[in-house]
Amino acid sequence: MDNKLMLMIPGPTPVPEQVLLAMAKHPIGHRSGEFSKVIAEVTAGLKWLHQTQNDVLILTASGTGAMEAGIINFLSPGDRVLVGCNGKFGDRWAKICDAYGLDTVRVEAEWGKPLDVAQFRQPLQADGDRQIKAVIVTHSETSTGVLNDLEAISQEVKAHGALMMVDAVTSLGATSVPMDAWGLDVVASGSQKGYMLPPGLGFVAVSAKAWEAYAQAKLPCFYLDLGKYRKEAAKNSHPFTPPVNLFFGLQVALRMMQAEGLEAIFARHRRHTQATRAAMQALGLPCLPRSGGESGNHRRCPCRG
Ligand SMILES: Cc1ncc(COP(=O)(O)O)c(C=O)c1O
Repeated sequence: MDNKLMLMIPGPTPVPEQVLLAMAKHPIGHRSGEFSKVIAEVTAGLKWLHQTQNDVLILTASGTGAMEAGIINFLSPGDRVLVGCNGKFGDRWAKICDAYGLDTVRVEAEWGKPLDVAQFRQPLQADGDRQIKAVIVTHSETSTGVLNDLEAISQEVKAHGALMMVDAVTSLGATSVPMDAWGLDVVASGSQKGYMLPPGLGFVAVSAKAWEAYAQAKLPCFYLDLGKYRKEAAKNSHPFTPPVNLFFGLQVALRMMQAEGLEAIFARHRRHTQATRAAMQALGLPCLPRSGGESGNHRRCPCRG
């Protein structure tokens, strides 16, 4: 393809030619049987990518829209939430919570360092009357390259009973995010990173426990009301007019991922991480995070079965 662009940024990432070509089609009717088949296939593929049996819903939104949907569908004004803040995107979660009038407690770590699990454990264990309704964490903190130890934080949250909400915008499709094995309740992501797509689609995966919270939640929502998406997804449909050409791209991108396999995808990203760090070192450039920035999740992947 002419004018191929090598994007050296965390996202949008380069889009494979097969995906670009899949999108270069006339749009089809979003209520047609043909499009229902596309929705069915991509929904199954998204569940595979999230390693989950839960719902994975598709929004016309960037990653932030998916994050906002995660907040407004499952929480009520004044709810106390613990938000991990060790970079720009953790801070964004906290700002969204502030905007909706939640009681936002920031669990801070220095930028470039991972969140400290003990800083979650202590307030969760002290919360006898269960005032904390959710713990909200950015898995891969793109602004510093730190991968937070989501599995360990989630274990603490499970022991307490709050919802575990995650920004997996730069981890899904690059490192393992086994939603069911780690007990994650809400996982938000966007199309322009590990999905190998242009920006424009947001994804929210929702556990059964989060749906219980949805039934009680009182923050207002309309376009981002995930109940509407769930109802339509059950019929392989969509509540609004979705960007059908992005769905064509998603279909092909997921097929490519499935042909490669989760383990091989994660191994490829690990190789690229290590090669990039080695190259930087050879050039005498310091890396952030200096300690490597891996939480250990890379080494254990439940998708192996
Ligand atoms: C970890 C993380 N969260 C959220 C976002 C925000 O996503 P968007 O710009 O798609 O709204 C980004 C974007 O780079 C990100 O890297």
